[in-house]
Amino acid sequence: MSETASGAEPLVPNATMIPVYIMGKKYMVPAELTIMKAIEYAGYQLIRGCGCRGGVCGACSTVYRKAGDYKIYTGLACQTVIEPDMYLAQIPFYPALRADFDYAEIEPVAESVHALYPELFRCVACNACTKVCPMDVQVMDYIAHLKRGDILGAAEISFDCIQCGLCASRCMGELPQYHIAQLARRLAGGKLKPRAAHAHEMIENIAGDKYDEAVKELKKIPLDELKKIYQEREQEPTMAEEDWRPESDVGL
Ligand code: FES
Repeated sequence: MSETASGAEPLVPNATMIPVYIMGKKYMVPAELTIMKAIEYAGYQLIRGCGCRGGVCGACSTVYRKAGDYKIYTGLACQTVIEPDMYLAQIPFYPALRADFDYAEIEPVAESVHALYPELFRCVACNACTKVCPMDVQVMDYIAHLKRGDILGAAEISFDCIQCGLCASRCMGELPQYHIAQLARRLAGGKLKPRAAHAHEMIENIAGDKYDEAVKELKKIPLDELKKIYQEREQEPTMAEEDWRPESDVGL
């Protein structure tokens, strides 16, 4: 994050301006902004600690204090709305330890996870990790599943994890929960669950020459026309059935 302007001037007409403190410095910003927008309104350019802006990528973990409140609060900067006198600090990266391993060599069994992350057994079930999770993932529950060796269960429960690292930031047992859950999901997806036949078929098609001719033809089309074709392409309906396939694909 780099500072580019003071942000002291009210740039939004008629906005109610409130004070926030960014890296210890006071700024007046419009009251309805998220933390991320308030930081940018104040004149900072976010180079790290900002990705999707939609609560999905986990890049924008933030810690803050409220006026007169001892507690440290946490949240995603792109999702949390500012309050008067917030003291804000961005965490572009949370330095939790990650086990070093060769994925190809790991057996998808409980013993592998326990050997790579023995700190699992330091969990004291305080549930601070679950309380701090901005995605409402039941962090303590997936840790309990892993302690008893249920990799598939842990993968299922942690599916919404966005790797922001806030769980690890509050853990008194010093567990890197989000790294452990990522290992569980990788083992589940890559070594425990059945292969998706249609994905395998598609990879073979792409690796072979099935689409070569079509790609060659697309490359000849002018950009504007290409954009039109893209915008008018058949799209999957929001509430599509499980077995939905585009017309162009049926019978292939
Ligand atoms: S920027 Fe991606 S979660 Fe906030």
